[in-house]
Amino acid sequence: MTSPSDETILEVKGLRKYFPIRGKGLFAKSCKILKAVDGVDISIAKGETLGLVGESGCGKSTLGRTIVRLYEPTEGEIIFKGRREPDRRGMQMIFQDPYASLDPRMTVADIISEPMAIHGIGNARERSERVHDLLRQVGLNPDHAMRYPHEFSGGQRQRIGIARALSAGSEFIVCDEPISALDVSIQAQVINVLEDLRETYGLTYLFIAHDLSMIRHISDRVGVMYLGRIVETAPAEELYVNPMHPYTQALMSAIPTIGRRGNSRVRLTGDVPSPIDPPSGCAFRTRCGRTLGICAESAPALEGNSDHFTACWLYKS
Ligand SMILES: Nc1ncnc2c1ncn2[C@@H]1O[C@H](COP(=O)(O)OP(=O)(O)OP(=O)(O)O)[C@@H](O)[C@H]1O
Ligand SMILES: [Mg+2]
Repeated sequence: MTSPSDETILEVKGLRKYFPIRGKGLFAKSCKILKAVDGVDISIAKGETLGLVGESGCGKSTLGRTIVRLYEPTEGEIIFKGRREPDRRGMQMIFQDPYASLDPRMTVADIISEPMAIHGIGNARERSERVHDLLRQVGLNPDHAMRYPHEFSGGQRQRIGIARALSAGSEFIVCDEPISALDVSIQAQVINVLEDLRETYGLTYLFIAHDLSMIRHISDRVGVMYLGRIVETAPAEELYVNPMHPYTQALMSAIPTIGRRGNSRVRLTGDVPSPIDPPSGCAFRTRCGRTLGICAESAPALEGNSDHFTACWLYKS
């Protein structure tokens, strides 16, 4: 594995993405605000894989989509390679559902070369050569370039999605649960493709997943998200060995191989509160077994030393 450099490729500061939710029928005039991403700061080094975990609905996909500007941020800064302007060529996304994310009417060659066409890269012959190279690199037969997505399996389609994300020379890729829709038997193969490409091109990944064991394997560093915020970040091994935030501890103890160790099993009960009406103070307090008086009053900042940061009042002196 190549180690990430010290050079920061992406910096996100105070990022928020709010969705207006309009009422229906009698309530058509009412409008509530859903805070899907509510003040996220992260920085990712060139060549690094930052894993992102958290329960369903906590805002992982919205964060990824806002970073690559599929969504316009409500507030905050996204600085990519030192620039604040959107860089649609430099950042791409790989989606969870390889069936819905590829246009069924386009050939594989057209799908993969579309980002090159959009950004005016190369002539027709050069693009076609690049499509063939990319197909080979993701483990597909270049002779199949003129076929349509429905002729491929889920794993093969995800490989096509990966080739597409790389075709215009992107350096940063948001992988949004790229293997969770695939058969277990082919998940590892797709992960291997992503790891090989990272090595070959020095790619940087924001890797979103539910599967904590897989995240540990693929990530250099992991961020834990709860209700629109990052509550803990640490190098992958450190986070699994020494989780500090009560939410991270609860997530970890749900992993059979890790959770069985010791007798400090923390159980996560109840659902994630609604991001339309989140709890005051620390959003996790309604499910936390270790609350203090201050938890309802004010949200703790993400703080720590060297490379392990936690947003929890238990650790503030
Ligand atoms: N386009 C949208 N319009 C309105 N609300 C949205 C939109 N996209 C997401 N949301 C809401 O924002 C919150 C965060 O959703 P998001 O999809 O980012 O979560 P997630 O962590 O990716 O969940 P999952 O693990 O299920 O993929 C959810 O409450 C969701 O309903
Ligand atoms: Mg998601």
